[in-house]
Amino acid sequence: MTKPRVLVARKVFPEVVERLRAHFEVEDNADDTIHPREQLLARLQGKSGALITGSERIDAALLDACPQLRAVCNMAVGYNNIDVAACSARKVMATNTPGVLTETTADLGFALMMAAARRITEGERYLRAGRWDRWSYDMFVAPDVHGSTLGILGMGRIGQAIARRGALGFGMKVLYHNRSRLEPALEAPLGARWVDKGTLLRESDHLVLVLPYSGETHHTIGAAELALMKRGATLTNIARGGLVDEEALARALRSGSLAAAGLDVFEGEPKVNPALLALDNVALTPHIGSASLATRRAMADLAADNLIAALGFGPQAGRPPSLLNPEVLG
Ligand code: GLV
Repeated sequence: MTKPRVLVARKVFPEVVERLRAHFEVEDNADDTIHPREQLLARLQGKSGALITGSERIDAALLDACPQLRAVCNMAVGYNNIDVAACSARKVMATNTPGVLTETTADLGFALMMAAARRITEGERYLRAGRWDRWSYDMFVAPDVHGSTLGILGMGRIGQAIARRGALGFGMKVLYHNRSRLEPALEAPLGARWVDKGTLLRESDHLVLVLPYSGETHHTIGAAELALMKRGATLTNIARGGLVDEEALARALRSGSLAAAGLDVFEGEPKVNPALLALDNVALTPHIGSASLATRRAMADLAADNLIAALGFGPQAGRPPSLLNPEVLG
């Protein structure tokens, strides 16, 4: 029997590619070339499935041009690069990698929030530039993290994991806003309180964004929202760059109305808005929320499990573990 053909769009762990070869004829990308759209379309021809990352955009036009495609399996929890409705309309399974990256991403979010609040990267740049020549009582003074109010916009798995760090490790008061409220049993151990978005913006000392990005959440934080935030508050974004109007953010940081920002994600990444690069009070990381070796391996394995199951192999044949569009089944 000939094996179905699949594409592994970016370089991933060789062991994971080998697992896929047990079931599929695999075209991989050991050089990790980022293929422009036309080349991606060409590489997808005749493929039944693809293991993709956030750098591959899967939309209706692409699906129409690749009629053999039955499954697109993202190696990421966020899936704004996939038009899931377009997949469902064509009976293409779409999957992501929830759960396995929660704690690692929460670690990075918390670290970035602390780096922004305590001016860690700003201090390091100052030191490396040879500008540190004395102690002074107000050098790099900053807002406290412990005991302050942590605001979380988007209280899914990662939001809750950040809330645990803040409440249990740093004695922070936790406020959150989410479409739906958590069960009281989840709120109680953290002392977490659901508030409307305006209250969250007004009362948080350190606001962290962990909500999914879509057309509806585009620029969830713009000039009007930033104007509601406390003077001297910080904003951390580990979700998607498009959640924040970066020009408005740069203005708020420049004026000092916002003390600092911690950003792991950017609207035009890997390009970073020059207005942000020009500011000292921003801690910047290159979209590394889930980047621990163990977590990246778990994400690759889950994406591979999804692909294997979606194309009818393995113990979960026909039922990928993290299917985003179960309506395609049956
Ligand atoms: C990373 O940004 C992810 O969505 O997993």
